[in-house]
Amino acid sequence: MSIQVAPSILAADFANLQSEVEMLNASEADFIHIDIMDGVFVPNISFGIPVTKAIQSHATKPLDVHLMIQNPDDYLGAFRDCGAEIISVHYEACPHLHRTLQGIHSLGAKRGVAINPHTSIDLLSEIITDIDLVCLMSVNPGFGGQKFIENTYEKVKRLKSLINQKGAKTLIEIDGGVNLQNAPKLMECGADILVAGSFVFNSENPVQTISALRSLA
Ligand code: DX5
Ligand code: ZN
Repeated sequence: MSIQVAPSILAADFANLQSEVEMLNASEADFIHIDIMDGVFVPNISFGIPVTKAIQSHATKPLDVHLMIQNPDDYLGAFRDCGAEIISVHYEACPHLHRTLQGIHSLGAKRGVAINPHTSIDLLSEIITDIDLVCLMSVNPGFGGQKFIENTYEKVKRLKSLINQKGAKTLIEIDGGVNLQNAPKLMECGADILVAGSFVFNSENPVQTISALRSLA
């Protein structure tokens, strides 16, 4: 299977959100990645439920919602109502992760867990079979346009071997600083989905950039 691509709307022109979403609809993007930041879990505020609803009203691609927020349990239903097909919560924000994942599952969404660069893969070993997607952060969450952390390759390999060892079907998503330079190696290490924000939206032709990432073999 080829790599899937989830452009991050965080890097879009928010004053022209409808046309940005329509551009993604017309592209080969597999998902639209939506970064929700609360100014508490991460040192930045992006946007919330009303803007996500507005994106949903124009999107024909599935929404991949990345919650960089404290107390995500309080908002799972609201984001599911915004059409989220994948809801990722942060490992570091969930003292009762198993319960949180049950909550996502009961809403009919795919269960995502995002982990920060300093968080060890080993911490997922008891719960990996309950996770549909691990979002491996390859930058510290909070901002687009940051430099890719090289240690990510090793983490992808370790995560892939944990998934295989446990017979899980978990997908591996990489988030932060992804570009055409690091994408081939990420795929080689076992990545399934690449999130790309600034690399896509700052490029001259975002539709072509999405195709280029997606056609990496
Ligand atoms: C970072 C976000 C990322 C970000 C990626 O906190 O979770 O999804 O938008 O942006 P780039 O691709 O610019 O690093
Ligand atoms: Zn993200």
